[in-house]
This record gives sequence, C-alpha cells and structure tokens, in this order.
Amino acid sequence: ASQPDIDLALFGALGDLALRKLYPALYQLDREGLLAESTRILGLARQDGDNEAFRGKVADALKKHVQSGEQDQDSLERFMNRLEYLKLDFSSVEGYEAIRQWRQGARRPMTVYLAVPASLYGPICRHLEDSGSLDDDTRVVVEKPIGHDLASSREINDAIGEVFPESRIYRIDHYLGKETVQNLIALRFANPLFGTQWNQNHISHVEITVAEQVGIEGRWGYFDQAGQLRDMVQNHLLQLVCLIAMDPPANLDADAIRDEKVKVLKALKPFTGDDLDRNVVRGQYTAGTSGGKSVPGYLEEEGANKESRTETFVAMKTEVANWRWAGVPFYLRTGKRMPEKLSQIVIHFRQQPHYIFDPDQRGLAANKLIIRLQPEEGIALQVLTKDSGLDKGMRLRPGPLHLDFNSAFPKSRIPDAYERLLLEVMKGHQYLFVRRDEVEYAWHWIDQLIAGWEARDTPPRRYPAGSWGPVASIAMITQDGRSWYEDY
Ligand code: BG6
Repeated sequence: ASQPDIDLALFGALGDLALRKLYPALYQLDREGLLAESTRILGLARQDGDNEAFRGKVADALKKHVQSGEQDQDSLERFMNRLEYLKLDFSSVEGYEAIRQWRQGARRPMTVYLAVPASLYGPICRHLEDSGSLDDDTRVVVEKPIGHDLASSREINDAIGEVFPESRIYRIDHYLGKETVQNLIALRFANPLFGTQWNQNHISHVEITVAEQVGIEGRWGYFDQAGQLRDMVQNHLLQLVCLIAMDPPANLDADAIRDEKVKVLKALKPFTGDDLDRNVVRGQYTAGTSGGKSVPGYLEEEGANKESRTETFVAMKTEVANWRWAGVPFYLRTGKRMPEKLSQIVIHFRQQPHYIFDPDQRGLAANKLIIRLQPEEGIALQVLTKDSGLDKGMRLRPGPLHLDFNSAFPKSRIPDAYERLLLEVMKGHQYLFVRRDEVEYAWHWIDQLIAGWEARDTPPRRYPAGSWGPVASIAMITQDGRSWYEDY
C-alpha cells in the first residue's frame, strides 16, 4: 500500500481546532482510502473520559462539520475504531509514560500534533522526550500563533528545537493548504505567459483582501491580546505575499521554496514615521449588521474590555524592495465583520504604452488577474474585447476568462486545507509548512510596525460591522488614483 502508515498523538483532542477541523479532515482522508489500515489516533486532553465517550464526541463533531452526503457508515465505523483516548495533565511528565506504552512495539512513525496554546509546546516536547516516548523519526506539528513577537517566537522555537530537528517540525499556516494558494505556484511557474510578465515592468500593483464575516466568536481572551495584525497578517497574508512575490525556486523541494520565501520577507520595506500614518490603517468594528442580523461592536462582545484599542481590521500599502518589485505597491487588507467572507488576490497589470480607444474608457484598459481563494475557488483573467452589437463601434468590454474550479472539475471535491496538510505531514513533505526563519523574519517586520503604533498611541478607527472597513482604508488607495477591486 502506498498510504503512509503512522500513529497520530493529538494533544488538545477536545479543543475547538480538533473538533472543527482535524477530525473532519482525518475522516475525509480515511474515507478516500488515504489512511493506512493500521494507523491509530490517540486523543490527549485533560478531561476525564474513556475511549467510548471520546468516540461519541468525535462522532458528534463529524455530524456537525462533515456534510451528510460525505458520511457513510462503513468509513465512520472504521474511523471510530482508530480512536483511543488518554487523559493527561500536559504540564507534568508523570502521565506521559502511557504514551510510551501506547507506542510499545509499533514500528510506524509517530506524529505528534500540538493543537494547544503555544506556551505548552516547549513543556510537551520536553516531557515526551523525558518519558522516552519519542523515536528518531517522530514528527511534530504546531499551529500558529508562534509567539507574540520575535522574542517570544524565538523562545518557543528554541524549546521545540531542543527536542526536534527542523526537518521534523511542521509549522502550520493553513492558508498554504488551500487549493488556490497552491495553484499560485502552478500558475506562476508552469505558465510562460505569466512567468515573463511577473515583475515591475508589467505589473502596476497587487491587492490582497482577506475579509471575514465572522466577529470574535467567543475568542475575545485570545484575540484581544493578538489583534488582526498578529492573527492574520503576520502569517496568512504575508505567506500570500511570499508566494506572489518570490523568485522561481530551482525545484519544488521544501527548502528551495522556503529559501525564496524568506528572501521576500527580508525585502519587505519597513514602515517609517510618516509612512505609518499614510499607509497603514487600523480599525475596530462597532455595532452593525452582519448577514442580515444586528451584531454588537467589538467593545460590546462578551467578556470585552471596554477600553480595548485592539484592531479588528488592518489595511496597508507595502512594498517588496527588490529588483523584481521595486515601485509596485502591495495593498493588503483584512478584517473581521466585513460584509462577506472573501479572500482574493488581484494582480493589476500595467496599461498599454499607447491608447487608441474611446477616451472615456481609458481607465478600463488594463488586464487583471483575479485569484479567488474563497468562496468559489477560481482564477479569472480580465481581458478587454470589443463590445458586440452593430451600434457599439469599437467600444471595449472587460470580461473574464474564467476558471471556476467547482464547475471546471465538477467531480473533484475541493479538500479542506487541513486534509492536504495532514496528508503531507504523513508523507513527510515539508514544502507546505513554514520554516523557522520565515516565522522569525515575519515577526521582525511586524514588530517594527507595532513599535510604530505603540509610539503613536492612536486609537483604531471605527467601522460599522458589515462594512468594508474604515473610510481611511479606502482613502489610502484612492490617494494613489486606484480603488479596491469590487466585483463581489
Ligand atoms: C485563523 C485566525 O488563523 O484563520 C482566525 O486565527 C481566522 O481569526 C481564520 O478567522 C480564518 O481562516 P479561514 O480559513 O476561515 O479563512
């Protein structure tokens, strides 16, 4: 069989991430025949419980988070039989002995998944080692956020690194598992058309929007310490910037790709004084409407500190200061409680050097490549053609050359990011995972931005829930004679 055979030890087995994302993803893999016959999953959490109760909770989670058409009795049963439960106090080495016993005699490699707060990464790795539960091929998977700034991320990375070499550490950024994000690599490096155009000679600017409709979803305690910049930009948006901006890697090896991404992070222009006022907008949502319902403002959410100045929205204009991209603005924006969930990248190509059509249509005359991550994954290239109809003369009409993955490849279900990521861990492929230096260079850049904010101490700008963010974020791009691409 070609399926990689592993044992999975899952810390945080009853947490939100596990229930919402990990079991559904593992189940889908199992259903597709991608888990080996003998693969076992050990759930570890502090709560009392036994195998049966644990399986019940996982079954409930699957009911809730896997479409009913994608569930069938046989595969559910097979999946449930893989699950075992161990109650464990993560912070003391005592109980870890049981993991060693669970593994006794098992020859397949173990993957340890830490779906727990980062403050526990170090202690768990240490106890696993001290209890003799690890082998030379054990892998560890960790989630963002890795730290709060460069210093704390280094401490966490050091603590993991004392036990695991980099080649066995899998840092998840789930955006890297999204179908369209991977397609960026194919699009850029398999298509000569784009390969030759992908630089400041041909591209005028790049826009990335990651809008969420949700608010804080009961995560105030975590979120208020983090804010949208740390929660979304430090990882997901910067990873997208890297994949758009990086030079072609020599091959698809993990380190070839990650070396190129690191170069982009190092080339990100830092924000200096005035720049920060002009080119970065922080926002915080107030009460408004979302999905047709009225919703409270950030400061009225449950458990909120009324004085909080944490941002729930950020927009910025930045630049990758290198040969390929000098002078090409990258406009980024991301926020909670926006009108809809929408993640997309828009590459704006430069206009023709000489224009011969209707002067009123001049603004139209450029190509855009729209890469939609969610919803409705797809890629569209806006091209100009002649408007049809006898009376239209040479009027131009922009229209998309459109590749909608759902309708173009109707049979293939688009897998959730976690399915792909888990499968890659099992196979031992690291190219979709973030290397230590990527995390640290990203923090380095974010730290200087935050230091600038702190020195200014200005409150975030308000925007009503259900809007596209503070007016200033629109002004930020219109001051350059451009606008956020709106074809929602
Ligand atoms: C997570 C953030 O990393 O990504 C959340 O912590 C955010 O705040 C989520 O909601 C968004 O992910 P997705 O896949 O829904 O775009």
